Amino acid sequence: MTVAWRGKPVWILHRTKQNLADLKTLDSQLRDPNSEVDHQPPYCKNEYRSRKPEYLIVIGICTHLGCSPTYRPEIAPPDLGPDWKGGYFCPCHGSRFDLAARVYKGVPAPTNLVIMKYMYLDETRVLIGKDEGAA
Ligand code: FES
Repeated sequence: MTVAWRGKPVWILHRTKQNLADLKTLDSQLRDPNSEVDHQPPYCKNEYRSRKPEYLIVIGICTHLGCSPTYRPEIAPPDLGPDWKGGYFCPCHGSRFDLAARVYKGVPAPTNLVIMKYMYLDETRVLIGKDEGAA
């Protein structure tokens, strides 16, 4: 789903076990697979870029020129090629991101998408923009 936060789209994506397994196979194709660029809170600097592996929560704005990429969950669609395992595609200038919002090599976007602070209030509620007191 997409929610609005401070005038920006925030994506909340439920990733399957297969999605999570696929993420581990992509590192060599990514510009910053270990999220070295400081675009996420410390608790999201991990292989899934999230607090809970199954949920990606990220600002849906391309780090190139600010378009909002398109969710492309299909596996190997003709326009994205046989290696595509689902992700986000920015049609403005062709940037590609995986399902952890990590940028692929060789595209105009310079960095992974930005993850803001967030915290779980309980099993089903998330507070965006704040993380004090969170585990
Ligand atoms: S704004 Fe996304 S590729 Fe240029």
